[in-house]
Amino acid sequence: DHERTFVMIKPDAFARGLVGNVISRLEDRGLKLVGIKVINMPEERAEEHYAEHTDKPFFDDLIEFITAGPVVPMVWEGQDATRQVRQMIGETDPLEADSGTIRGDFALDLGRNVVHAADHEDEGANEREIAIHFDEDELIDYDQHD
Ligand code: CMP
Repeated sequence: DHERTFVMIKPDAFARGLVGNVISRLEDRGLKLVGIKVINMPEERAEEHYAEHTDKPFFDDLIEFITAGPVVPMVWEGQDATRQVRQMIGETDPLEADSGTIRGDFALDLGRNVVHAADHEDEGANEREIAIHFDEDELIDYDQHD
């Protein structure tokens, strides 16, 4: 399916100067960038974004971490974009992320794992997460290859 997927560079990656690297990897794959911004995420938005984890023991740490420094929410578009991005990012736990994936190459820690991407097994995740972080007019329409 040609689709849009939500991806966010986390504060650990921002602080380490990995923004360009992550974007390059997604561009190189052929995905199309249709929305991007730099923000300090408000706590309420972080709680909404991670609502499914509200009852998890790591929830408070997760909110504290994701609001601790700049993040880069993005929307990428392309063929099977959600699964493509998930595969490029690798497993949530860096110990299980293959080398060659973003987490496998750049992360050691389960919490500080460089990027978030919408879960392809969660049917409404992309629409929900895009709506939390972007207004529709912030997503642009253009031809990728001129
Ligand atoms: P993310 O894909 O952003 O979704 C939820 C995040 O919670 C996850 O990446 C991890 O960075 C973070 N996290 C912290 N501790 C855990 C844990 N024990 N299990 C799963 N996710 C965790």
